[in-house]
Amino acid sequence: MSYTIALAGKGGTGKTTTASLIIRSLIRRGLKPVLAVDADANANLAEGLGVEIRETVGQVLAGFNEDKIKIPPGLTKGAYLEMKLNGTISESRDVDLISMGRGEGTGCYCYPNSILRKFIDELLPNYPYMVMDNEAGLEHLSRGTTEHIDHLVITSDHSIKGARTVGRILELIAELKLDIRNKSVIVTRSPGHIEPAILVELEKVGARPLAAIPSDEQVVQFDLEGKSLIELPDDSKAVTAVEKIMDRILNNTAGL
Ligand SMILES: Nc1ncnc2c1ncn2[C@@H]1O[C@H](COP(=O)(O)OP(=O)(O)O)[C@@H](O)[C@H]1O
Ligand SMILES: [Mg+2]
Repeated sequence: MSYTIALAGKGGTGKTTTASLIIRSLIRRGLKPVLAVDADANANLAEGLGVEIRETVGQVLAGFNEDKIKIPPGLTKGAYLEMKLNGTISESRDVDLISMGRGEGTGCYCYPNSILRKFIDELLPNYPYMVMDNEAGLEHLSRGTTEHIDHLVITSDHSIKGARTVGRILELIAELKLDIRNKSVIVTRSPGHIEPAILVELEKVGARPLAAIPSDEQVVQFDLEGKSLIELPDDSKAVTAVEKIMDRILNNTAGL
């Protein structure tokens, strides 16, 4: 059974950066191959990981929904879709990436979604860990493309607004009745500590943060140079913080 870690949080709060560093940590611990799923329409996990994206799942499903594709003779619709979905996996040495992309086109995705779910269910046993970068609205989670999340990491930037957004995400999770076993809140790009006013605001929504990831000039530099965050040195401030977070998540001593 593969262990699923998902990221949620407002845009720009460091989801993709944190997801990349979580994947880096799993790889360094030998917990690989990792299945990375980019479920954010503003997909950029590929850049963080230094992996090339092939066709997105959204593109495959859209073509399928609009009957733009011709099914080769001898294949059923389901088998053909599965084959096309297999083609969306970008493979690299330690991590394979699937990018969901946008839900292009219109109409009901119920049929492709059920195939997608089956596809992911069949894929998961090949990977001890899956890491999923989501959008704030948790659209993919609510569509039920993954059965459950073992640990949801909610990111907030070091601001009062960020803390309030964490509250809304927690409400959304409750409303959608998502199957999330454990969740943690992480304050990203912190000045090295968390301001008391932000802690108070987080406390109001029942979200005592697990940790902070400090603002790290090496992360900024790698981002500017388009370098994979997997290659960050062990002594980078953000890497060190994520290692401590991963110790807690993997030892099951983290959670709200
Ligand atoms: N710990 C950090 N230190 C410095 N910069 C960071 C850190 N975390 C994220 N960033 C930067 O902040 C921006 C937004 O981060 P990103 O991970 O793309 O957020 P999201 O995926 O939530 O939209 C990026 O330019 C990224 O390089
Ligand atoms: Mg992102």
